[in-house]
Amino acid sequence: MPHGRGCAIEVDPTLAENPLDKDYESSGYATSTKSLAAAAAEYIYENGRRYHAYYGVEKNLMPTDEMEQERLDINHEIFMRLLEGGLHKAPLRNPKQILDVGTGTGIWAIDMADQHPNAKVTGIDLSPIQPKWVPANCKFLVDDAELEWTINSDTLDFVHFRNLALGISNWSHVLSETYRCLQPGGYVELADTGLAVYCDDGSMWPDNPVNLFCELLLEAMARSGRESVSGDLLSARLTKAGFVDIKVYPMKQPFGPWAKERRLKEVGMLTLLQSEAAFLSYGMAALTRVLGMDHEVARKICHDGYQATMNKNTHMYGLHYIVYGRKPVRSNLEVRKI
Ligand SMILES: C[S@@+](CC[C@H](N)C(=O)[O-])C[C@H]1O[C@@H](n2cnc3c(N)ncnc32)[C@H](O)[C@@H]1O
Repeated sequence: MPHGRGCAIEVDPTLAENPLDKDYESSGYATSTKSLAAAAAEYIYENGRRYHAYYGVEKNLMPTDEMEQERLDINHEIFMRLLEGGLHKAPLRNPKQILDVGTGTGIWAIDMADQHPNAKVTGIDLSPIQPKWVPANCKFLVDDAELEWTINSDTLDFVHFRNLALGISNWSHVLSETYRCLQPGGYVELADTGLAVYCDDGSMWPDNPVNLFCELLLEAMARSGRESVSGDLLSARLTKAGFVDIKVYPMKQPFGPWAKERRLKEVGMLTLLQSEAAFLSYGMAALTRVLGMDHEVARKICHDGYQATMNKNTHMYGLHYIVYGRKPVRSNLEVRKI
């Protein structure tokens, strides 16, 4: 298995297993924030979420409303912990021009601008949901990455994409523009969360509702021309676009604070905090608009998936992949070496 799951995560023994006591709250963990719960309630009772309307709802299957923005910011905390405090894996040296594609709330771009005061960081998104007060070296633009890029060739040092699996369908166009705009030697990084769950100790039953959720989501993605996510797929995407020195990092993301190691326990806790919002954000439009499912049926599938992540006796995790590659310095020479 080239980009596999590696060693099992050690389970925290203080979370004593008890089939009658399954939820994390009974073990002293709060599993929702008030604002997330309020937003979820609003969604349920107001019968809808806010999706951006720039190019019609089909362009992005995920909402960009306040509930989603809060989820994205929690996700950023998760990825920082998975990266042990870092913002990327690519071995950057004094980058000057950085582009964050599909920047969302812009939280990654803002942190990157703070960490690299000599760089200019630009975040682009279909939705203008970024804050107005940002570091002087950071700016945001409304733009569609699937159109022609208005950036000069050979000018960028780093292009970053995170969690765009449900956004972008034409990756060959987007990565060919990335390749054109990067300087020779510049890096591209794709970070995305796989749409499958795993377990190393047999504590997850095959009929776990998260499996059904993932199957349906993958079907909706395939039907709407979107690709699945795995280390090998992301790596192949970069190879096809001409990048070299590709590295793949699969990272285990526990669902719930069941891991013994403190960093992974925090990842699990934060994952649980955004879990309900995540199932609804990823699932609702995909299942109703693309697969044509009834709204209530789709909501139940999302809810069952969320509930399954709340079971502390199931040591479930997903894989978050970070894959980077470099634009060759002298294309012909380096490509011939492969
Ligand atoms: C799941 S969010 C991820 C946000 C951010 N990258 C992060 O990790 O916090 C996906 C974002 O990509 C944006 N998006 C989707 N398709 C896009 C496109 N073609 N061009 C620009 N942005 C896009 C969406 O509007 C949304 O804000």
